[in-house]
Amino acid sequence: VKESGVDRDQDAGAASRRLAWTVTSEILRRPAGLDEIWEVPAKAASLPARDEALARAIVTVTLRRLGTLRRAVSERLAKSSPDARLTALLLNAAAQILFMDVPDHAAVDTTIALARRDRRLERYAGLANAVLRRIGREREEILAALDPLADDTPDWLRERWIAAYGEGAARSIADAHGRETGLDVTVREDAEAWAEKLGGRVLPTGSVRLENRDRVRDLPGYAEGRWWIQDAAAAIPARLLRVRPGERVADLCAAPGGKTAQLAAAGAEVVAIDRSDKRLARLRENLDRLGLTAEIRVSDALNLGDETFDAVLLDAPCTATGTIRRHPDVAWTKRPVDVVRLADLQSRLLDKAAALTAPGGRLVYCTCSLEPEEGENQAAAFLARHPRFVREPVTADEVGGLSGLVTREGDLRTRPSDMLGDGEDAPAGLDGFFAARFRHAG
Ligand SMILES: C[S@@+](CC[C@H](N)C(=O)[O-])C[C@H]1O[C@@H](n2cnc3c(N)ncnc32)[C@H](O)[C@@H]1O
Repeated sequence: VKESGVDRDQDAGAASRRLAWTVTSEILRRPAGLDEIWEVPAKAASLPARDEALARAIVTVTLRRLGTLRRAVSERLAKSSPDARLTALLLNAAAQILFMDVPDHAAVDTTIALARRDRRLERYAGLANAVLRRIGREREEILAALDPLADDTPDWLRERWIAAYGEGAARSIADAHGRETGLDVTVREDAEAWAEKLGGRVLPTGSVRLENRDRVRDLPGYAEGRWWIQDAAAAIPARLLRVRPGERVADLCAAPGGKTAQLAAAGAEVVAIDRSDKRLARLRENLDRLGLTAEIRVSDALNLGDETFDAVLLDAPCTATGTIRRHPDVAWTKRPVDVVRLADLQSRLLDKAAALTAPGGRLVYCTCSLEPEEGENQAAAFLARHPRFVREPVTADEVGGLSGLVTREGDLRTRPSDMLGDGEDAPAGLDGFFAARFRHAG
């Protein structure tokens, strides 16, 4: 009987790759989010942080380049793959060979060792070895033919993005998904000083972008709650609400609380609502670390009563197709039907948000989706349904002078291809966000 437990692995490299393999097989077998699938096997593997990070990086790169890798592997297997777990193992190995800073022999040897130790895959070890060595030899040729829009973007998303943004822009979005992302943080105050301390730079929109790859918890200011992790695009919508100290503000889909923190830090009395108590527990932890307070309510926002607020933020649940750079699993686990289902929920939540906005008050609606049904179309339909509300156009000044982030109608639209850094390896891009600001005209 072959052993398969992590504890039997000869070295940490093999243990990382085994975890990556388990998770990749599972995601490809039953599309579910990476975070969801990750938790149980990662806990069971109980790897040191560095080895767990390697495993996570292998899965992330595999999903980011899934189409390219599938092609590279299948073209070099004389016939179709005899086993889905073998496919996952080969995809992980090809990801390391082609796209990661891992010596070929380390990727190949650990992969072959894993295959040999698996009763069902043992007999394919020779085949796997041949395929991976060929991929190593033909690396330049494979990379020269890289086409992220054609190969690494699911058909339905490619068609949608070409229709919404045009072919050139869709290509830039797909290219941006292949690049490394940096770590953006929102600082309570004095962004310049914190950028210096953290080894980063202040972006035009006010966030600080770090090049530092140390563990976040070990960086200065983290434990003291001077800043929190938040993509630079995700930091814009709460600012658009322009809250003033003492205003009562409802954050309707608040957890895990990045935007609640911004509103509370601006001095607002925030009511943070979310229907997930598990996610609200994280919100509470985050606010505690930051020394900020909010009234926290576990509730479906649709069930809230008759009260009204000076300002309302609706960061609605969405397909999250704007976050594929950091969460490449989204591309392969979401379906067209999710757009329809979520757009319907968003419009119901928007109607509720309107009822909660006091006359004269402001409402900001946002989603981290690239799909017009969850953004531009939603804003237009809202205005048609609610004649008492007017759009308060976002200005370029509010987004650091980057007029390209503001649509003709005056909404915020960021794309992963915005704010690309210099050089291939520089941390780059933004999450794809949409935000519209409305005022209750009374
Ligand atoms: C995009 S996330 C919010 C992210 C958060 N605003 C932040 O900045 O950290 C959407 C949230 O909406 C919550 N949610 C989904 N449907 C909801 C509903 N009907 N009422 C309240 N919360 C809901 C989810 O639990 C999830 O936490």
